[in-house]
Parts: sequence; C-alpha cells; structure tokens
Amino acid sequence: MDASERRPYHSPRRVGPAFRTGTASDTVRPVPVHVISHPVAQELLTHLRDTRTPSPLFRQYAQRLSVLIATEAMRDLPTEAVVVDTPLGPANGVKVSASVIVVPVLRAGLGMLDAVLSVVPHARVGHIGLQRDETTAVASQYYAKFPAGLDASLVVLVDPMLATGGSAVASLQLLASRGAQRMRLLCIVAAPEGIQEVEAHFPDVEIYTPAIDSHLNAHKFIVPGLGDFGDRLYGTM
Ligand code: URA
Repeated sequence: MDASERRPYHSPRRVGPAFRTGTASDTVRPVPVHVISHPVAQELLTHLRDTRTPSPLFRQYAQRLSVLIATEAMRDLPTEAVVVDTPLGPANGVKVSASVIVVPVLRAGLGMLDAVLSVVPHARVGHIGLQRDETTAVASQYYAKFPAGLDASLVVLVDPMLATGGSAVASLQLLASRGAQRMRLLCIVAAPEGIQEVEAHFPDVEIYTPAIDSHLNAHKFIVPGLGDFGDRLYGTM
C-alpha cells in the first residue's frame, strides 16, 4: 500500500488518568501530556543532560530516546488485518493503516526525525524552519514545506525543547492553517510554561516527553534542561 493510500487518521479521544503515561498528579481536567517514564528513557535523558556527553554520543542517545518517545506516541495507530505465511502455515497479523506526516522543526528537530521514521517508515515528512531570536526568544519562520494530505493524516510535530512554547505554537498554527486536524507534539524536555502555552492554543494536541522540568531561566532556557539541543547535537557550541 502506498503512503498516500493509507486511511485517514482519526484519533480516539481519551480522558481520565490513563491520559498520562506514568506521570505526576491527576488533575480535574485531563492534561494531554504523556510522560515517558520508562527507565531506559530516563537513563538516556540523563546522558543527554550530562555536559560530559560529546556530540557523537549525544546524537546516538537522542536517537534512541526518540524511538521510545515515538513508539509511545504511535501506540494507538489504527491497523488492518493481514495474513502472512510462516514456514509452518498462515498467521494472522496487522499492518499499520494510518497516514502519518512527521514534521521536524529545523534544526534541532532533525535530531529526532530518523528515529521517528524508524518507528513509522511509511510516514511522509514536512519541514518547518524557525529562527529563535536569542534576546527575545521569539520564533520567526524562514521555511515551510509539507506533503499533501495534512488534513487526513496524523501530524507528528517534532521539536526537542518545549521551552516558551512559542515555536511549537507557531508550528501548530501553521500546520492547522494548512489543514492539519490531528496533531501530536514530541519533545525531549518540556517546561511547564511551554506546556501551558500549547494547551492554551491547542488543548487537543497531546504532548509526549520523558521530562517536565522545573522552569525557564531569564534567557528562556529550560532549567535544568540540557542546554541548547541543536548546539549539542551538531557541536556548534
Ligand atoms: N532551546 C534549547 O535548545 N534549549 C532550551 O533550554 C530552550 C530552547
């Protein structure tokens, strides 16, 4: 089946404590944040935080962690029944039948892209280029290109550091303006400020992250965070 022939994605609506994946306290209103608490994910995140981790290893850890995040984010993908032949006879199986579009926010999002594609190889890829002003932390768009069919796909936005939420919200707004209806956000570290900003604008967008950190500092960096993700990924410190 060609990617463009896959069925439109309709996300199931979930409420209640199960809405979170291993997480902090329950709230009155379900918070669409899935915290990936798997010990392997938490160890990988610890390596990413560590200033002693050099770029080549940072890339590897980011990849491995992104596979775990993406796997959780794709947990409810619809499937269709198929039958295959094992050496001993026919066996019932499934095939993922949803259309998925992955959209990394350049440049840091590229550090998660291949990992997400390893989980959903049939996915198509769009790109958003956002430049963060270092003094104001305001994001401005310099590039955007998407495959057709945003409206009928699960759109997976990949942005490793959810800090102020400015770039995530700008990206989600752009995707929504191009027709995207079902969107998820995958990140490596989230700040409470960023989660609130996404929730305020897109209450239906579920966020997948292994960590909700303490706060933002005066320069809008996540504390404790891991520093500048793109710089650590590409060695541009
Ligand atoms: N972007 C990063 O790379 N790190 C932060 O802490 C915040 C934004």
